[in-house]
Amino acid sequence: MIENNNIWLFAYGSLLWRPGVAYDQAERGTLQGWERRFWQGSPDHRGTDTQPGRVVTLVPCDERSVTGRLYALPRTRIADTLAYLDHRESGGYTRCWVTVHREGAGRCRALTYVALPGNPHYLGDCPVDELAAHIRRSTGPSGHNYDYYQDLIDSLIALKVPPSELEAIRVFD
Ligand code: SIN
Repeated sequence: MIENNNIWLFAYGSLLWRPGVAYDQAERGTLQGWERRFWQGSPDHRGTDTQPGRVVTLVPCDERSVTGRLYALPRTRIADTLAYLDHRESGGYTRCWVTVHREGAGRCRALTYVALPGNPHYLGDCPVDELAAHIRRSTGPSGHNYDYYQDLIDSLIALKVPPSELEAIRVFD
């Protein structure tokens, strides 16, 4: 039984293509009232302390939604799993609970990692040409920032997200 033996994790960024954790099942999920934006600085994965890259976070937006993946994490391994995720997302992300719509299966509570305004690496909005230049020039221990962008676009296409959701983060043609 998924519900009792598992804790859901909602992924919308790098956890889509590189979860890095064991899971029993994965499915598509939608989070309403938020949008995905390249507003978080990355000092540890796609940039450095002095030249942070730009990665996605969730930003409140009433009329939008974010499509992602729900991973059913085994409860038996949850302490190790969360230790890994907390470390991986330690560059400004906070772990919190959200309500996610499952495909044809109602709603569930899920953990997610969100980088909120006020965290030390938060960058916020910027013009699209500056965002493109920032992503083009940035690189860090987890690889080039452009590869993060391309992996995200590819993951969202594979998830068949609505075109408007894809367009909201498209920076390059
Ligand atoms: C996520 O993937 O759900 C969190 C943000 C990231 O690691 O890119």
